[in-house]
Amino acid sequence: MHNPKQLQDLIENAIQQITYPTTPANLYEPIKYIMSLGGKRIRPVMVLMAAELFTDEVNSAMDVALAIETFHNFTLVHDDIMDNAPLRRGKQTVHEKWGVNNAILSGDVMMVESNKHLSKVALDVLKPVLDTFNKTAQEVCEGQQLDMEFETRDNVSISEYIEMIRLKTAVLLGGAMKLGAIVSGASNEDACLLYQFGENLGIAFQLQDDILDVYGDPEKFGKQVGGDIISNKKTFLHLKAKELINTEETEVLLGSHENDSKKVAAVTQLYNNYGLRDLASAEMEAYLSIAFQSLDALSVQEERKSYLRTLAKQIMDRES
Ligand code: IPE
Ligand code: IPE
Ligand code: MG
Ligand code: MG
Ligand code: MG
Repeated sequence: MHNPKQLQDLIENAIQQITYPTTPANLYEPIKYIMSLGGKRIRPVMVLMAAELFTDEVNSAMDVALAIETFHNFTLVHDDIMDNAPLRRGKQTVHEKWGVNNAILSGDVMMVESNKHLSKVALDVLKPVLDTFNKTAQEVCEGQQLDMEFETRDNVSISEYIEMIRLKTAVLLGGAMKLGAIVSGASNEDACLLYQFGENLGIAFQLQDDILDVYGDPEKFGKQVGGDIISNKKTFLHLKAKELINTEETEVLLGSHENDSKKVAAVTQLYNNYGLRDLASAEMEAYLSIAFQSLDALSVQEERKSYLRTLAKQIMDRES
């Protein structure tokens, strides 16, 4: 078995070896740019870790790992357009650098590139792989649509929020685990348990993403701190704040402000006053322990699961 760092290195190498056509340059340069900006590579590591629960031959899972990471990067390119985000992984976003139209089209090609990776999997698993991938990819779009719709709604419930982040973020972590299991010949039952592990971990992951959006260190976060507050995203912090505060303070949360940085400061202060960071962390921990229950139930020797446990904890403690 490979440790997380070794898996990450394998993935970095494999990503570097992907070749894209060179022309039209404005179509392919953005793809090379976003794919080589790093990022944590959590999803492809999860694919390989899931595969290594059942096999010592990790290479057969690499195509799926690359498909998942390429798809993830595609969603980031389009997400940054939708969220009007200036920064990604500490660098200019693709649409800021190349313009919105190029970012749309390069993103579209990335989806095709994902499929090209997938088409290399062994024929006997091709159908379940495609079915799982397509379901996951479609659900991510559903989640992104809800995320946008929630920006202009002020009656979003916490359970609607959890469903939205399940779709936009968690299913991809679930799908990564399940695909790793499928290509390495796991039983259907284990593949489903791993999906559930990834999905609940993904909900915890997005809760931490929402926390970092407010409390991240700008030097390490790599994205614009306060972006969710500026775009009225219905995050757990926002919704819980609304539940706890009085009418006057609702104005701080939703009312107009002199400018973006004043708004971010005022809303952050309100979150601080009500201890919302701790409430969000507690919610995150709750989903993490649900995730671990599925891992406990998996019919694999305990020591083979330890890297997944370490990875899950690292994800929760991350700063970017
Ligand atoms: C960002 O994902 C998008 C979310 C679902 C929150 P990551 O935080 O995994 O981004 P990278 O790939 O490491 O940059
Ligand atoms: C992103 O959620 C989910 C997807 C990209 C599908 P966010 O909008 O919170 O992700 P970041 O914070 O921009 O990475
Ligand atoms: Mg978004
Ligand atoms: Mg975003
Ligand atoms: Mg975010």
